Amino acid sequence: MRSLISIEDLTASQLTEMLDLAANFAEVQQREVPKVPALRGKTVVLAFFEDSTRTRISFDLAARRLSADVVNFSVGQSSATKGESLRDTIETISAMGVDAIVIRHASSGAPQQISQWTDSAVINAGDGWHQHPTQALLDAYTIRERLGTLAGKRIAFCGDVNHSRVARSGIQAFAALGANVVLVAPRTLLPASLEGWPVEVVESLDDVISELDVAYFLRIQKERNGQALFPSLREYRQRFGLTAQRAARLKPDALIMHPGPMNRGVEIDPEVIDDPRAVVLDQVAAGIPVRMAVLFSAIGPGQFDGQDRAA
Ligand code: NCD
Repeated sequence: MRSLISIEDLTASQLTEMLDLAANFAEVQQREVPKVPALRGKTVVLAFFEDSTRTRISFDLAARRLSADVVNFSVGQSSATKGESLRDTIETISAMGVDAIVIRHASSGAPQQISQWTDSAVINAGDGWHQHPTQALLDAYTIRERLGTLAGKRIAFCGDVNHSRVARSGIQAFAALGANVVLVAPRTLLPASLEGWPVEVVESLDDVISELDVAYFLRIQKERNGQALFPSLREYRQRFGLTAQRAARLKPDALIMHPGPMNRGVEIDPEVIDDPRAVVLDQVAAGIPVRMAVLFSAIGPGQFDGQDRAA
């Protein structure tokens, strides 16, 4: 594998191999010096054209733990503010001889387009409503760690599916790994057509909550007009939020997930965040070994040798 633009770039067995490789890198994280020389001499550029906290830091740490050189590019401090086109920006970055470009962009399809303009590997860190493949992988990793497998598990995405690249990539990954995926949302937060989506749709969270193995809550995308699509945040919470009352109906070993950033008291009530079934911070932690695996697969030397130690 070189570039990773979409979950569809990976077969089911490649998905599993990626999670296995991530598990090896999780072991590296436990070491006193949590670092291997695997990507020494390689350069990774983090090109974030949209704001991010966890994804950017996570890719940055992942690349450093593989001993790559990391360059951070922020659109607000770049010549993009002088009107430079995306193509010229990317061609300029690649002319400096970088091995991988990790890109986040508000436009769906930007990473695909960029991959035509550069010989560097392109890793999609989230594009518009389209895909966020490393999020899907870290979510699958978290579920596998906790529940052993995704096969046969009932996983619900609840909330703003239409604006969500997390849901689009997660649905594909979870279904490929054998899960039964349910969407729980009002009609206004679902895409106009779900043709070809491997999902079941229910309109009421209360109808399914007690049957779920994973309840995955999506952020209301205020910046993408998500909030205009239902009457009020209060009503949204009442119908689709994880309140303490609903949490009490979840199975004792079910998982509560959210990609962050959370709107506390909207998707999930503050007291439920501390429920032992909530794995939101495990998801964040899984991001590092998973992104190490993705970067290694893209530009690494082939097989990972677990004996590697930082020099
Ligand atoms: C998500 C994103 O940016 O796509 N956050 C993340 O990467 N963890 C989800 C979101 O913004 O709702």
